[in-house]
Amino acid sequence: MNFKLLAKIAAVLTLVGIFSTSAFAGKVEVLHWWTSGGEAKSVAVLKDLLEKEGHSWKDMAVAGGAGENAMTVLKTRAMAGNPPTAAQVKGPAIQEWAQEGLLANLDAVAKKENWDKLVPSVVTDVMKYEGHYVAVPVNVHKINWMWCNPAIFIKAKAKIPTTWAEFEIAAQKIQKAGFIPVAFGGQAWQEATVFESVVIGQAGADFYKKALVDTDPKALNSPEMIKALETFKMIKKYTDKNAPGRDWNMATSMVIRGEAAMQFMGDWAKGEFTAAGKNPGSDYVAIPVPESAGTYLFNVDSFIMFNVKDSGAKAAQNAMARLILGNKFQEVFNVNKGSIPVRSGIAKASFDDIALRSMDEFAATSANNTLLPSMAHGMAVFPAVQGAIYDVVTKFYNSDMTAKKAAAKFVTAIAAAK
Ligand code: BGC
Repeated sequence: MNFKLLAKIAAVLTLVGIFSTSAFAGKVEVLHWWTSGGEAKSVAVLKDLLEKEGHSWKDMAVAGGAGENAMTVLKTRAMAGNPPTAAQVKGPAIQEWAQEGLLANLDAVAKKENWDKLVPSVVTDVMKYEGHYVAVPVNVHKINWMWCNPAIFIKAKAKIPTTWAEFEIAAQKIQKAGFIPVAFGGQAWQEATVFESVVIGQAGADFYKKALVDTDPKALNSPEMIKALETFKMIKKYTDKNAPGRDWNMATSMVIRGEAAMQFMGDWAKGEFTAAGKNPGSDYVAIPVPESAGTYLFNVDSFIMFNVKDSGAKAAQNAMARLILGNKFQEVFNVNKGSIPVRSGIAKASFDDIALRSMDEFAATSANNTLLPSMAHGMAVFPAVQGAIYDVVTKFYNSDMTAKKAAAKFVTAIAAAK
C-alpha cells in the first residue's frame, strides 16, 4: 500500500471539499426577513457559499421590515417544538432565547476562527450568553442616515440640509417645486427609526443613552424629549398622504425614481440603490440625519442557531457560522447590503465612499462614546420595552397627542412593560 500516495490523494480531496461535502453534509433551515431586492441579493451569497460546501439551504424568509413578523413566526415555531436551524435574531433578544436553553454553543467555531480577536467587543458581548457564543454577527448597519436625490434639490433650488431649520426651508422649496420632500413609510418600526435619529441628533448621544438605552424616567419625560418629539412630528408635514403602511423599500424607490427628495433610513437603503444600479455621489447622496453628525446609531444583524441532534445539520450550522465571518462573505454581502464588515481584515477596495465613511465613523464614535445601540432595531432594550416605546411613538405620530403627553406616557408604558 502506498501510504504517501493515499495521503496526497486525501489532501487533494480535502482541498476540493470532497470530504466535507459527502461525509458531513447537512441542511440548514434559515429564518430571516431579507426579502427586498437588495436584501435578497445579499443573503443569496450565503446560500451559494454553503451549497458550494455541499450543504443545503431551506429558505424561511418572512417579509416585514425590521423583522417584527419574522419574530412572531419564530416564536410560534419554537413553541411548537419545531424551531428552524438558524434564525436572524439581534441584540438583547439573543439573551432571551439563550435563557430558554434552546441555543447551540458556537464556542468551538468561534475559537478556531478567532472571533474574539477579529470582532470588536461591543459586538461580541451581544453574541455571548454567560461567556459562550450563541450567535454569529453578520454586519454593522448605521441607522442615522439621510438618503437624498440631488437632482430634486437642484430643480427646487434647495440645499441639502444639515440642521432641522435648514430641513424645513429645503422641504418647503421641494414641495413648491412639485416633489414630495420626505419618502416616509408609516409603520411603527420606521417611525421609531426616524424618531431615534432625531433624538440622538438634537439632544445628543449622552441624552440618547439615558433615554432610550437606560430608559431613565427623568430623561424620558424631559424638555429635551418633548423638543425631539415635536421635531419628529414636524417631519410629517413633508410626507405624502400614501405614507401610512408603506414598506421602507417602496419609500426608497420613491427617492430612486425622483419622486421624493429624502428618506431617513438605515444603510440597508443603500442596498436598494445598489440593486437599481445607482451610483453614490452622482445619482444619490447619503449624509447624516440633520444635527446627528458625529454620532452613530448601530445595528448588528446576527444569527442564532438552535440545538440540533443530526450531525449533518450540526456540520451545516458550523459551516454557516464560519462562512459568515469569512473574508468572501463579509466583502460581497456587505457591499450588496449597504452595511460594513463586522470583523477586521477585510479588503476595502470594493466598498464605496459611504461605506468607507461608515467604517471611519464607527471607529471614531466608538472612541468618543457617541456610538450607541439602536433602540428601534432591537439593540438597546429588551423586546417588551422596545414594544412599549414603539407604541407611544406611533400613537403620538398618528394622533393629536401632545409631545408633553407622549413624553409622560413613555415613563408609564415602559414601567408597565418591565
Ligand atoms: C435589519 C436590516 C434590514 C432592515 C429592514 C433591520 O432591522 O438590521 O438587516 O435590512 O431591518 O428590514
